Amino acid sequence: MSTVEITVTVNGSSRTRRVPDRLLLADFLRHELRLTGTHVGCGHGVCGACTVLVDGATMRSCLMLAVQADGASITTVEGLAPPGGLHPVQQAFHELHALQCGFCTPGFLASTIELLRENPDPSETEIREALHGNICRCTGYVNIVKAVRRAAELMRAG
Ligand code: FES
Ligand code: FES
Repeated sequence: MSTVEITVTVNGSSRTRRVPDRLLLADFLRHELRLTGTHVGCGHGVCGACTVLVDGATMRSCLMLAVQADGASITTVEGLAPPGGLHPVQQAFHELHALQCGFCTPGFLASTIELLRENPDPSETEIREALHGNICRCTGYVNIVKAVRRAAELMRAG
């Protein structure tokens, strides 16, 4: 097994590790860095549970190798909230009861953050289109859409 040294910035902290060249980014985050908020559902790019932000763009961490993230800046769910508070998207999901078991939630949060950066006032249709790659097994989609609308309000209010 060949290994490669990589350096990534994760949630603002620089991390250098020697990793197997075939290690998935999801496994790197969960097992090497113990950031277990990144969930693995399907393991092959379908459910969106493993979605993180890589240089600000959503990425399915089950489809990316850790070595491909060398030099990148990664944000996981653990890095969203300011100290002592919640990110506005987390706040909105909390207020609108947009989660049940919460397994899908880290991925939905990442996708919502990307959506609202590109479209600060999305319609319901635009929200559903943007989040169609995230699957909620608890089927809480109605409240998730409401929460994204609420998150947009909170973020526009600054
Ligand atoms: S675990 Fe990555 S998309 Fe399902
Ligand atoms: S809240 Fe359970 S999978 Fe979405």
